[in-house]
Amino acid sequence: MSAILTTDIPGAKKAFSGKVRDIFEVDKEHFLIVSTDRISAFDHVFPNGIEGKGIILNQISNLWFSNLTFIKNHIVETDVSNFPEPFRKHPEQLRDRSVIVRRAERIDFECVARGYIIGSGWKDYQQTGEVCGIKLPEGLQMAQELPEPVFTPATKATDGHDMNISAAEMGEKLGKEKTDQLAELTLKIYDFAKNKMQNAGILLADTKLEFGILNGEIILIDEALTPDSSRFWDSSTYKIGTSPVSYDKQFIRDYLDTTDWDKNSPPPPLPDEIIQKTLDKYKEIFEKIQNIL
Ligand SMILES: Nc1ncnc2c1ncn2[C@@H]1O[C@H](COP(=O)(O)OP(=O)(O)OP(=O)(O)O)[C@@H](O)[C@H]1O
Ligand SMILES: [Mg+2]
Repeated sequence: MSAILTTDIPGAKKAFSGKVRDIFEVDKEHFLIVSTDRISAFDHVFPNGIEGKGIILNQISNLWFSNLTFIKNHIVETDVSNFPEPFRKHPEQLRDRSVIVRRAERIDFECVARGYIIGSGWKDYQQTGEVCGIKLPEGLQMAQELPEPVFTPATKATDGHDMNISAAEMGEKLGKEKTDQLAELTLKIYDFAKNKMQNAGILLADTKLEFGILNGEIILIDEALTPDSSRFWDSSTYKIGTSPVSYDKQFIRDYLDTTDWDKNSPPPPLPDEIIQKTLDKYKEIFEKIQNIL
């Protein structure tokens, strides 16, 4: 076995590829989404992957999708032996890492909820005292918990970097009613997951969700509460003012900050040790989530 970096299903048409997922057409209403072992950070995909990462991401998302019963999601089928041909013939590429989903009209905003101040939110706060137009208390320290979780949307850039925007700006483009609905749903999902994760000794610092419209209704699409889309912190070592021990992509970002890669040119391969440690962290958080859901 080795990392699955790209998929090829003879007889099936690839609709498009994201940084991590390959999307195939099933029929007019359905896609098949494969989580590959590709790894992206700072919006770049690395030349080497992490063997088994896609399986972990897919399983974590599926667990959350089936537990978030208050919001409809895109999942139709998770078992490769029930997939239609030609997909069923290719379990070696698809097993445990792919799902058949309802195609939705994607809402082109990343819906982010933050309960703690870190990452791009921390950077914005240091410069302006605000995150996505929300004024925060003065004197917050890195990784500090916010008085209450906030909705901090970002644009979904087709190329280049996503940009944090205010809910008001999102409302101008998408409509206020839909934006309010998305803010409420995002915070509700964050709150649900944060409470669950507490039972596993994990602080859910923030999470990014994607939604789509299907038959006029908002549904949850893409991935849910994975270490690629969320920050999971170890609550036993958490300390305000320091960068927390995390079970997510932060480990790779921190490593990259120690290299001389400029985050704009094609990235160098990640060293084996970083790959292995990241995989260990992903496995650990997967186990914790399995134990609580
Ligand atoms: N049910 C769905 N209907 C339509 N599009 C979907 C659905 N679920 C996921 N997608 C889209 O499929 C892609 C998944 O690929 P991946 O997560 O690798 O993308 P990405 O690199 O994060 O890029 P992007 O910025 O386009 O999301 C995303 O563009 C996502 O919006
Ligand atoms: Mg994505």
